[in-house]
Amino acid sequence: MQSYTVSELLSQDIVFPEVEVKGWVRTFRANRFIALNDGSTLNNIQCVVDFEKFDESILKRVTTGAAIHVTGELVESQGKGQKVEIQVKTLEILGDSDPETYPIQPKKHTFEFLRENAHLRTRTNTFSAVMRLRSSLSFAIHKYFNEQGFYYMHSPIITGSDAEGAGEMFKVTSLDINNLPKNDEGKIDYSQDFFGKETNLTVSGQLEAETYAMSLGKVYTFGPTFRAENSNTSRHLAEFWMIEPEVAFMDLAGNMDLAEDFLKYVIKYILENNSDDLEFLDKRLQDEDKRKPQAERNTMTLTEKLKFVTDNHFKRVSYTEAIDILRNCKPNKKKKFKYIIDDWGSDLQSEHERFLVEKHFKCPVILFDYPANIKAFYMRLNDDGKTVRAMDILFPGIGEIVGGAQREERLDILKEKMAAINIPEEELWWYLDLRKFGTAVHSGFGLGFERLVMFVTGMSNIRDVIPYPRTPQNAEF
Ligand code: 4AD
Ligand code: MG
Repeated sequence: MQSYTVSELLSQDIVFPEVEVKGWVRTFRANRFIALNDGSTLNNIQCVVDFEKFDESILKRVTTGAAIHVTGELVESQGKGQKVEIQVKTLEILGDSDPETYPIQPKKHTFEFLRENAHLRTRTNTFSAVMRLRSSLSFAIHKYFNEQGFYYMHSPIITGSDAEGAGEMFKVTSLDINNLPKNDEGKIDYSQDFFGKETNLTVSGQLEAETYAMSLGKVYTFGPTFRAENSNTSRHLAEFWMIEPEVAFMDLAGNMDLAEDFLKYVIKYILENNSDDLEFLDKRLQDEDKRKPQAERNTMTLTEKLKFVTDNHFKRVSYTEAIDILRNCKPNKKKKFKYIIDDWGSDLQSEHERFLVEKHFKCPVILFDYPANIKAFYMRLNDDGKTVRAMDILFPGIGEIVGGAQREERLDILKEKMAAINIPEEELWWYLDLRKFGTAVHSGFGLGFERLVMFVTGMSNIRDVIPYPRTPQNAEF
């Protein structure tokens, strides 16, 4: 007898006298209809039992969450809602699920409750759809770069340098933290630590990716990154996944083209390959919208929003133009923003980014040429001496989804910028070597993977698009 997944069974046009399937019971209705799911698809297969032929003691154990093994005949369905169903011949309980204590009941649960039960939440339609889309998106990302001739590079997770000069890193140590060795100055003696120096979890693989771009040409990283900032928002995680392409001989304009083409490709991939899950999440959002006041409702459905991104050019706007727009906009003049924009040079907050994307341009926006002093040291200084070749991509409902730049390839200027913020040359000697030996224009960017998953699934909290979120005061599971 042939064993099938639910997805395989549901895509059959012909009937089979004997099939076998295993999965978890979603519901058992009228002592007759089992809705069975095995994760292979959003949809359940209906298994019809003739209860007179089965022992009452077995049927009692067909409860929500139980693992079962079914054999039977795959037939055209008598009822509505499905093409095929299984007429059950044998039914075996593999693992019971006590209905009194099983947390995931066939009713609406809040996302907060499901976060506390994150080990079981992928047994719900919403979370199984989100996580299948997450998996599919990461495949599409690798597929895109592979087709474009990029090499996948594994940048280190433990690092001896603070790439962004931003601080806020998690320390990595094997020292006994209750009994730390001290040096003559009374400071911690890291020479006795595992690596003989201070080390941290990486905030970005960029600097290492640059070294590979300057030899292999086109590379990308896709791995976990860590930030110890205490930002308890719906868009920040302490552990998140980042995709960082880096390309030799590419300038900022090329970088923008690459980022736009890449984002459109992966979103198109989802539209073409994950319609079941997408339609389900789209409908979920529309239902959620109906319960909201008119003003807060989405103007587009999820699918429309995704198509809008794939079908339209991203608007490219310089920081200086953006500041002009913001300075003169209504919410700024009426002091509706928390941070009022008055001078050129101020950093943009997410309220400003969202105004530009959602109210003003109403499409994805690429902001570029930011003031040097609000961006990282490694960004290419423009001839005006005060802006750098940075770019941020802003998405509706998300805000910043991509941050990137053309890199400073001139040794003397890079050294000056490092000195200005006290980064010792010894710490990044290898990074400076790239500017000494065969330096060239090069660029790259970082895409926050969870922010992309949020956009594609329409989920509004970043904790709901990663299996086990790490946030301040929370590292359960
Ligand atoms: O803008 P960021 O900090 O840029 C970098 O790390 C560069 N080294 C990237 C590069 O040029 N190679 O981070 C890049 C993206 C952000 O745009 C955002 O989408 C995401 O990473 N991100 C976060 N996502 C979730 N939680 C956080 N705490 C995040 N911080 C940044
Ligand atoms: Mg950024």
